[in-house]
Amino acid sequence: MALAEFAGIQPGASVLDVGCGPGALAGELVRRLGAPLVSAVDPSQPFVDACRARLLGVEAALASADELPFGDDTFDIVLSQLVVNFMRDARAGVREMTRVARPGAIVASCVWDYAGEMTLLRAFWEAAREVDPERAAAADEGVVMPWCGEGELAELWCGVGLRDVRFGALRVSAPYAGFEDLWSPFLAGVAPSGAFCRSLDETRRAALRERLRRRLGVGDDPFELHARAWAVAGTVVSDDDSRRH
Ligand SMILES: C[S@@+](CC[C@H](N)C(=O)[O-])C[C@H]1O[C@@H](n2cnc3c(N)ncnc32)[C@H](O)[C@@H]1O
Repeated sequence: MALAEFAGIQPGASVLDVGCGPGALAGELVRRLGAPLVSAVDPSQPFVDACRARLLGVEAALASADELPFGDDTFDIVLSQLVVNFMRDARAGVREMTRVARPGAIVASCVWDYAGEMTLLRAFWEAAREVDPERAAAADEGVVMPWCGEGELAELWCGVGLRDVRFGALRVSAPYAGFEDLWSPFLAGVAPSGAFCRSLDETRRAALRERLRRRLGVGDDPFELHARAWAVAGTVVSDDDSRRH
């Protein structure tokens, strides 16, 4: 997976996945490192349960990024994938991720480029603005999500004292069996886009569905969509090093 590559995970490293959700990234970490070296936290109990059920042997705990249940200097790598923009206090969250990482460890994250090259959500919010302009403009993740502009994560990383900060773009693609495969998760109400979709009356929801389908130019045949995420990685310095700078 792209973030694991970007962070430069080496065999034998102990890794914490912050905001693991049901375990997409943690699963990749288990494949690379083995379950005993992987820990994961999420503030949502259903996600922690799903992660535990899916990844036997992974230590998965209920916790928020700004209050991690681990001692100082515990991990070789601390990651969070598509999470920083959901943290109520991202500076506190990243400071805490840094605290539990050893001197020399890597702290790395990525967030969707919601306002730019995130094809699915850009098409969704542009279609939504045609159906319910005011409410869509107020909920559009490209407008409301913090830390998702180019370079913003790097500022956050430098601001908490991480060194040798690298910033870059990760490009990913997702396959769909057909338009229905893409549309049905919106109806479950997950994420701001799903919540917006669910809040519409039936007529407007049907209009949104049709406008989204037309914007994407897809039908019942399989297709792929591309997206860009912004990624950042920085190195933890020891207290002695930080005093010298
Ligand atoms: C978009 S999901 C990403 C899940 C997973 N990292 C992945 O890549 O599939 C965002 C996750 O962030 C979690 N989250 C929200 N606020 C958080 C916080 N303050 N600290 C840690 N995780 C948080 C949510 O519970 C959710 O699992």
